[in-house]
Amino acid sequence: MLVVASPVEVRELSRCARKSGRTIGVIPTMGALHDGHVSLVRYARADCDFVIATIFVNPTQFGPNEDFSRYPRTLEADLELCRSAGADLVFTPDVTQMYGPTAQTSVRVSKLSLPFEGAHRPGHFDGVSTVVAKLFLITEPDRAYFGQKDYQQQLIIRQMVIDLDFGLQIVTCPIVREPDGLAMSSRNRYLEPDDRRIASEIFQTLLLAESLALTSNLTASQISVRMQERLRSIEGMELSYAEVVDEATLEPLTDRPLEAVALIAVRVGTTRLIDNMRIRFSNQSP
Ligand code: PAJ
Repeated sequence: MLVVASPVEVRELSRCARKSGRTIGVIPTMGALHDGHVSLVRYARADCDFVIATIFVNPTQFGPNEDFSRYPRTLEADLELCRSAGADLVFTPDVTQMYGPTAQTSVRVSKLSLPFEGAHRPGHFDGVSTVVAKLFLITEPDRAYFGQKDYQQQLIIRQMVIDLDFGLQIVTCPIVREPDGLAMSSRNRYLEPDDRRIASEIFQTLLLAESLALTSNLTASQISVRMQERLRSIEGMELSYAEVVDEATLEPLTDRPLEAVALIAVRVGTTRLIDNMRIRFSNQSP
């Protein structure tokens, strides 16, 4: 497995793989890898001939009061995980290699970036779409792998790929969870033991939404209220949002659609956690 920090060199290696007829898959990450990331590498390995994982803690997607400087950096362990999951190349640029001193261009996916994480983290998604566009231009993949864990992020990247004619396929992979249902996240390591215990309530609340959609005649907005009530009742948890929304537009839903996505963000201790679940409604009328 190659480990390369230079964008120019990575583009050359990718072009070389393409010339020899190989399909290229990329998995953008910020490192601190866990089984969720590893699953993306494995999906890419199964689909593509040349698998590139990228590890870059992107400063432009962190707000001034967010955890950029304390974001976990575990490069050696990350490289080992990439190797065992079958990556061919790991791209590990530093900040100066990604952003020159005169950098001033950014990509904004205007509408999908506004609600939910966008509303709580102003500028966050501009940083994400810009760096992902750069990673696509450097690695020139056929397919790129993202986790459903960051539901809004993968929708934004899909829109960007359409709008800017990237001509590559976005593959969204299932959420990998801990045994108690907590979605794996690089930030879970910040959780104190008490916080870690209550964090599993997020998944329980998603299961509640799923079962209400299937077995009750509540509307999407009524289910949102039930999720909010449940999360608000948990001591030590601060609700940011809990909503059942349209799975493509993230717009609010008032009736009983066929399908939707339940989105949750909470703060536990000092850590913000997000999760989601796609849910189906049975055909009972409200
Ligand atoms: P990061 O948080 O490191 O996540 C990298 C990828 O792993 C994302 O596509 C994310 O959705 C996926 N992922 C994280 N936890 C997962 C889980 N439990 N199950 C499945 N997939 C999971 O997301 C980012 O980095 C950055 O915003 C990035 C896209 C790299 C741009 O900087």
